Amino acid sequence: MRLWGGRFSGEPDRLVQEFTQSIDFDRRLFHHDILGSIVHCRMLGRQGIIPPEEAAQIEAGLRQVEEDFQKGQIQFAHALEDVHTHVEARLRELIGPVAGKLHTARSRNDQVALDLRLFLREAVLDTIDRLADLQETLCNRADEWQDIIAPGYTHLQRAQPVLLAHHLLAYHEMLRRDAERFQEAFARINVLPLGAGALAGVPYPIDREFVATQLGFDSISRNSMDAVSDRDFVVEYLSAAALAMAHLSRLGEEIVLWTTSEFGYLELSDAFTTGSSLMPQKKNPDVAELIRGKTGRIYGHLLHVLVLLKGLPLTYNRDLQEDKEALFDTIDTLLPSLTLLSAMLATARVNAERLAAAAASGFTLATDVADYLVARGVPFREAHTLTGRLVQRCLATGHTLADLPLEEYRAISPLFDSDVYRIDTWASIRARDIPGGTAPGRVRAALQEARQAIAACRAWTAGQRERFARLPDHTDAGSVRSPHG
Ligand code: ARG
Repeated sequence: MRLWGGRFSGEPDRLVQEFTQSIDFDRRLFHHDILGSIVHCRMLGRQGIIPPEEAAQIEAGLRQVEEDFQKGQIQFAHALEDVHTHVEARLRELIGPVAGKLHTARSRNDQVALDLRLFLREAVLDTIDRLADLQETLCNRADEWQDIIAPGYTHLQRAQPVLLAHHLLAYHEMLRRDAERFQEAFARINVLPLGAGALAGVPYPIDREFVATQLGFDSISRNSMDAVSDRDFVVEYLSAAALAMAHLSRLGEEIVLWTTSEFGYLELSDAFTTGSSLMPQKKNPDVAELIRGKTGRIYGHLLHVLVLLKGLPLTYNRDLQEDKEALFDTIDTLLPSLTLLSAMLATARVNAERLAAAAASGFTLATDVADYLVARGVPFREAHTLTGRLVQRCLATGHTLADLPLEEYRAISPLFDSDVYRIDTWASIRARDIPGGTAPGRVRAALQEARQAIAACRAWTAGQRERFARLPDHTDAGSVRSPHG
């Protein structure tokens, strides 16, 4: 069978059908495709572009098609190419030739752009909510672990003691920026492309504002050629997702490191670890490793869509069909990664003694010793050198800064007194009492502020969801409210 067959005399090659079909993956858009169609046909009826009775008939048919999709009663066929054609074909089976009027003043080019935008704006809300879930887990654990000291690292060398909560809240900050990026992308996703037709607009008195209001769009596209041909809004989602995955991958990497016997800071619950088929003793952090590993493929998807776009002349080109699998796979990777990391952290056990011991060893208080001299008038550069010599003495004599005899200290600078032994990890942490620092009061305040930010984010997504919940319901004609009274 050939679709849109008027100008052809022969059938398309079978291989062409297989190669060009998208129903195998774009069936995922059926709900949004039908939603867009319902509002489009309602608009056609209101504007008298098709008789209102026929519009009502089409709408009723579309609701039935929706039900058929939901119940899995649609026969998918590569010959029917994509989700748009499947919906229309089923509609025709149900209501006959009048189904052919639905596609008046519309092209699959603006239709698919519409479907993607409807789909993606919901995905953005889901993503932000999942980010908030993980942020909340980070906050809960930070709250619980406020008295736990951890070694802070640079170059993966022990550097300075920090509060474990401070370390966790660093991830909260990353995820917060991720959520902001998704929120900003939302504004550019939530634009109505319908009305662009194939590329030039349509020669019917359509009411785009009506469609936009009914579908909960914030604005309508300003240029029909742009509307059918750009997928920058997909790139924006993918790029925000790529960065979010970078953050999750870093967290995953730390989980991998921290659960080794070398570090021994963290233990994951059995539910989130896997065994080895050979080594009976193994408890592996496979989930964290896979999150790290899957990050690569999300970067790949971003690059894929960027490359997809770069050579396309205006306007629609079939290449654009290749945007969907990259997008779907990104969502299907990012969302479970967020949920799993959250669950893993919520159930992990922390070894506070080991963390505290690590935080106190490896000369992590050397900076504080230098600062001790600075407080006594020594220029920081010189204090740094003097403290370096102290470390050298310790290494030569097998001491730590805590048990190096006072004579040794004094041999390096007469400014040292016995109060130098008051420098410990807690003193070091308390001293960093500046905004953004690790001092307990600062971390408590940061935690409180973090919780407010999460609540604001959740309120925003809830507000958007409420708006979308008022969209024309597919199965209940009564719920539709006309924006024009
Ligand atoms: N499956 C197509 C896509 O995803 C739908 C639009 C088809 N338009 C066209 N002119 N062939 O892009």
